[in-house]
Amino acid sequence: MKTLLITGGAGFLGSNLAIEWRKKYPHDRIFALDNLKRRGGELNLPRLKSNSIEFIHGDIRIKEDLLSLPKIDLILECSAEPSVLAGVNESPEYLIQTNLVGTINCLELARRDNSDFVFFSTSRIYPIEYINALKFEESSTRFEWLDDQIYASASSKGISEYFPLDKIRSLYGTTKLASELIIQEYADLYKFRSVINRCGVLTGPWQMGKVDQGIFVYWLASHIFKRPLKYFGYGGKGKQVRDFLHFKDLFDLLVLQTENWEKSNAQVFNVGGGREVSLSLCELTEICQKLTGNQVSIESIPEDRAMDIRIYLTDTSKAKKIFDWSPQYKPKETIAEIYKWIIENQSTLVHIL
Ligand SMILES: NC(=O)c1ccc[n+]([C@@H]2O[C@H](COP(=O)([O-])OP(=O)(O)OC[C@H]3O[C@@H](n4cnc5c(N)ncnc54)[C@H](O)[C@@H]3O)[C@@H](O)[C@H]2O)c1
Repeated sequence: MKTLLITGGAGFLGSNLAIEWRKKYPHDRIFALDNLKRRGGELNLPRLKSNSIEFIHGDIRIKEDLLSLPKIDLILECSAEPSVLAGVNESPEYLIQTNLVGTINCLELARRDNSDFVFFSTSRIYPIEYINALKFEESSTRFEWLDDQIYASASSKGISEYFPLDKIRSLYGTTKLASELIIQEYADLYKFRSVINRCGVLTGPWQMGKVDQGIFVYWLASHIFKRPLKYFGYGGKGKQVRDFLHFKDLFDLLVLQTENWEKSNAQVFNVGGGREVSLSLCELTEICQKLTGNQVSIESIPEDRAMDIRIYLTDTSKAKKIFDWSPQYKPKETIAEIYKWIIENQSTLVHIL
């Protein structure tokens, strides 16, 4: 029997991993700590309670909130200011205090308890300029990366863990990369086990999607609630592409990692849906129209936006090779699950999404 701390435990990833963990490991003690900064997180509190997950209203910026906990065996660090636009036109203080200083506070807890440590990093650690410089072609509904690229770490399959890191990536990405480096040093020096997952877009039910984070939920909700949308950048045709991963697929990998530390300790993995589980915005529009029967107006804004990228696809070859893991959820299946969740909770979600 283990004691787990899930930071950001009322958030999309934290709450869903907590509940999946409860189903798989009924006897573990699970703490979900969250400062409830993200709107909609409060809707997860009854779900946590009914799954016997102990909610703590706490803040990872405050070391005492973490060090007052009993001995923790495993920390899943899921708290964050997760928007790539954080710090743009505003002070970056909250971003840095949470995403970097807060992670160090979690590491202090790991140092105290010799806890195992899982960090949910981001594909946004990779430099924007290098990503946007990758060679691509344009099909009728999307942009596609070519196989022949200047870096061996990129191909039509996506970006691998060896992609170069030496350019600007946004403050969000930088706080995550800085955390990765400090985690590796702490784990090595203080001898606890750690693994870093650099995630592409994650999604599924219970994601409180916003335009700058949780785009698949935001797009679908806009169709359900008949709100206008915009195709921003890259010619304004909605051909930009993201891969995405259902949280249950991520949970399957997490189980493999934490049950096989000899394979995961001190490793970094790129984790995402890959080419097979990806959509362009205009492909997503078509799925949303079919599901909802609604067609909303979509304005075309050809100019690119700050921090935006044309395509992101994850090359998951490393996780596949080491764990024989690959995503099981198909794009339409995930979007249909989100649809069901929004429809079932529409009277509440109309005020949040
Ligand atoms: N969702 C994605 O597409 C995605 C992609 C890549 C990486 N990630 C990473 O996964 C993790 C989880 O993201 P998510 O999608 O669940 O985001 P989320 O916003 O739903 O959850 C984050 C939670 O952290 C909480 N939080 C924020 N500041 C805090 C603080 N100072 N102390 C305690 N709690 C705090 C928020 O209230 C929120 O509930 C993050 O680290 C994020 O960077 C997410």
